[in-house]
Order: sequence, then structure tokens, then C-alpha cells
Amino acid sequence: DKGGHKHFMAKEIAEQPTVLGEAIRNYLSSDGTAISLPGDALDFTKINRLTMVACGTAFYACLTAKYWFEQLANMPVEVDVASEFRYREPPVTEGTVALFVSQSGETADTLAALRYCEGKADKILSVVNVPESSIARESDIAFPILAGTEIGVASTKAFTCQLTVLLLLALEAAKQRGTLDDARFAELLKNLSALPGLVNIALDGEPQMAAAARKLAEARDILFLGRGVMYPLALEGALKLKEISYIHAEAYASGELKHGPIALIDKHVPVVVLAPRDSLFDKTVSNMQEVMARAGKVLLVSDRAGLDEGGDGTWLTLQMPSVDPVLSPILYAVPAQLLAYHTAIAKGTDVDQPRNLAKSVTVE
Ligand code: M6R
Repeated sequence: DKGGHKHFMAKEIAEQPTVLGEAIRNYLSSDGTAISLPGDALDFTKINRLTMVACGTAFYACLTAKYWFEQLANMPVEVDVASEFRYREPPVTEGTVALFVSQSGETADTLAALRYCEGKADKILSVVNVPESSIARESDIAFPILAGTEIGVASTKAFTCQLTVLLLLALEAAKQRGTLDDARFAELLKNLSALPGLVNIALDGEPQMAAAARKLAEARDILFLGRGVMYPLALEGALKLKEISYIHAEAYASGELKHGPIALIDKHVPVVVLAPRDSLFDKTVSNMQEVMARAGKVLLVSDRAGLDEGGDGTWLTLQMPSVDPVLSPILYAVPAQLLAYHTAIAKGTDVDQPRNLAKSVTVE
């Protein structure tokens, strides 16, 4: 049942305020001031290293979480794609906790990576959508993301729910490790509880995103740029776009632009810049100027302050509500998803069943 939507993907994008709200409530105390995790107590002060492993979109959720665990909890983190991790057979040193992220909980490479860590890691954790899946069953603690069934091959609500649960884990780690002051911890929980409302506001921008997508649909190649915690979201935006619209898209950390990809820029290559006005914004503005100086077409996705400061000379802009910088990847997932969705619609591709792809990759 598509609930009145044309595609499951559209329905699943639209469901995000609801499922995010449920996921957040599930992990917070009733007054919203403390985090309560399922399963055995987890002592984050004893973790020397967190190793996160996943594939595809779930891998990008892990990359995002690396910024959170490092910045909020001062915890060393390693992130790898499962197909590389399992065959590289890396040493799993003392005090390592391994965390596997998977919507389906059945991805062959992720499951094999988990089994590789059995008996080596101090603990095996997973962040999954399907609680009865193999990955959930074989973990010491499985954290459900509570996204509900996801049918569209392109992952949307599972991604934002994965991010939410990973952020809650990072916040709990920060609390236990004493790396975040109480006021900031309380503020982040409060802002997280308000996030579903902001996601709703972002969804109201769909007509503008659809209009921008109709222009993107004319391109053969598209670049995505992001900096800091927005870099993994740029990767996710490019993946989403190629999966369903078949347009070639690449993502780079903004600072990498001048180390190669800038050679691709000309008037035919749109560059989608995902950049809330955060502490790194000035640097991103100079990256955009480098693009525009080469006739590149910048689509800037930012908040009011960012558009005021960096919007001059851009090709297109999309305005997002302003948000706590820590939470921005969750909110900015909405334009990343809707740009991909409406570009695919403009191209007339099969959004829910893109060619050559399966929802769950249970063979390597
Ligand atoms: O079920 P999983 O989360 O383990 O799946 C991992 C990837 O196969 C998946 O995220 C894939 O990249 C999606 N089609 C992305 O939209």
C-alpha cells in the first residue's frame, strides 16, 4: 500500500517525521532528558576503538556517525565497507567494539564481516531495521531503528533512522565518557526531539526541489560537495541519484575539489553543495566560487543565513530551516532524497525497482 503516493519511495520519504519521532521517543526517557538503550548495559568508557562496518547507504550512515563519535565522545572510530573489511582481515585489537549497520540485517558481506569479528571484538553491536534478521540475532546487542518496512530499493527512511539511532549512541557515549557538558547534552536531546518538526518543514519544500530536479535531469554528470559531517551526506546524495535516475554522480569532500575533480567543471556539470551555515561555511563558499569561476552551475542547499552569505552567483538555491549543526545531516537527507526522486521522475525511470538492483543483497 503506497498510502496515496505514486511510489513506495515517495511514501517512505514522507513518513520520516513520523518514524523519526518514534525512534527518538523509543530511545529517550519519558521526560526526554535521558537516553535509555535496549539490552545489556553498555560501558562506553571501556571502549578503545569502535569499528563500524556496512554497505551502501548504511555505510554512509556509519561515515556520518564517525564524526559524531569522534567530536562528541572523543572516541577513536574506524569505518569500512563490509566487502573490503572481511577480506582484508584486519587486526581487531583489545577494547574494540564492532558495530554493524544494515537495514535488512541480511546483507551477505556485512554478515560475513560480523562473523569475522566474533570472538575477536569485545562486543558485537548492530543497528538494524529487521529485528529478527541474521545480523540482529548474531549481535550481542541489536539496536532497532524502527523505520517500519522499507520497500523502495533506494533507502530513505532507514537512512535517517539509522543516523538518529547512531547519534543517540554517540550522545550516550559522550555522556558516559564525560566529553560533553550537561547543558550541551540537554540541548542536543531537546533539538533532536524537535527534529521531526523540522523534517516536516523541509518536506514542504518539495515543489522547489522538484523544479530543481527537472533541471538536474538534463545533466549527464553531477557533482555533490559537502564538508565535515555533510561530506557523507554528499556521498549519499550522489548514490541516491545514480541508483534511481542513472545519471552519473560523484561526491567529494569540498576541500578535495582542487585536488582533481575541479577539472570536470564546465557549464554542463551541476554541482550540488549541501552546506548549512556552520563553522566551515566560509571555506565552502570559496569552493563554490572556484566552481562558478569555471562556469560551473552551483545548486546551493543551505539555510537563510547561508543563502544570504553564499547565494550570490549560484544557479539555483534551496532553503532549509536552520538546525543544530550536529543534526544537519539528518535534515539535509530530505533534499538529497527528493532531488534524486524528482530527477528520476523527470527521466521516467522505475523509481522503486531500479535496474540491476535488489533491495537486499544476500549474495556477494
Ligand atoms: O540492508 P542493508 O542496509 O545492509 O543494505 C545495504 C545496501 O545494499 C543498501 O543501503 C543500498 O546501497 C541501497 N540500495 C541504497 O539506497
